Order: sequence, then structure tokens, then C-alpha cells
Amino acid sequence: MAVSVLFICLGNICRSPLAEGVFAALVEAEGLPIQVDSCGTSRYHVGESPDPGSVRVALAHGVDIRHQRARQLLPPDVERFDYLICMDRSNERHVRAVAGDKRVWRLREFEPQPGGAPDVPDPWGGGADGFAEVYRIVDRCCRRLLSQIVEDHGLTPA
Ligand code: 4NP
Repeated sequence: MAVSVLFICLGNICRSPLAEGVFAALVEAEGLPIQVDSCGTSRYHVGESPDPGSVRVALAHGVDIRHQRARQLLPPDVERFDYLICMDRSNERHVRAVAGDKRVWRLREFEPQPGGAPDVPDPWGGGADGFAEVYRIVDRCCRRLLSQIVEDHGLTPA
């Protein structure tokens, strides 16, 4: 059975779609048996495409997230996914209230840079610089998260 990873933010239009796309590209490049998805804790943007800022910064790095559609976290998700990866402490509180403490992480717990902040900042409604910063954080933390999962499960290319 494939290991499964769910990225979670508030709206599922800015941060978690970018994390899903970046992480899925890393997984695919290495041919690993890992399933990837994302969702939001809110239903504000259910059914919408990712924010143009996230689409643009992803495409600039060769990752296409235009097929994604926002959805809300569902109760079965907390049973179904092995890793529930939250973008900030507010999402984490929400997910822990539903899922308990097992399998819940914040993406920046995998921050390789010393002195990193606890949250992936919310770029919604801001300019391209905010989305570029989110991309850099997501990219470096997703690489470290992937190494951790590979180590935890002794994964090898499928
Ligand atoms: P996200 O960004 O959680 O990274 O998708 C946001 C999107 C929408 C809202 C807040 C954050 N909102 O309040 O509608």
C-alpha cells in the first residue's frame, strides 16, 4: 500500500495546492509509491481553482497545479492519510481537534533552515513576492519531509 500525504491550509487555494504540486513532482521524479492530496479546513473556496499567484509561481518552476480544485477536509481524511501536514498553527489546531495528535505535523517542522518561523505565511490577497516566499519555504520543507517519509517507511522506487 502506498504511503499517503495530505497537505492542509485554510482555503485550499494558495498554500496547500502549491505544496501538493511541489511534493507530487518530487515523488514522481523519484518514482516513489506515495499518494498526495490537499484540502482546506474551511469551505470558503470549495470547487475553485488554485489562486493565480500559486498557479504562476508553480508554473515558473515547472509544476502545473491548474487541474486542482479546492475541497474541504472530511472526517474520513484523518483516518485515510498517513501524514496530515498543516501549513500553520491555526490549521494544526483545527486538524488536531478532529484527528487527535497522531500523524499531524506542521510543514515547518521539516524546515532545514535554522531559526525558521513556525508557519507558512498566508499569501492570499498579497503580491507575487508573498507567493515566491511561500514557494521557497514549501520547496525546501517538502524535500526534507520526503526524505523523512522515505526513511520512516524504507521506501524504494516502485
Ligand atoms: P490558503 O489561503 O489557506 O493558503 O488557501 C487563503 C485563502 C483564502 C482565505 C484565507 C487564506 N480566505 O479567508 O478566504
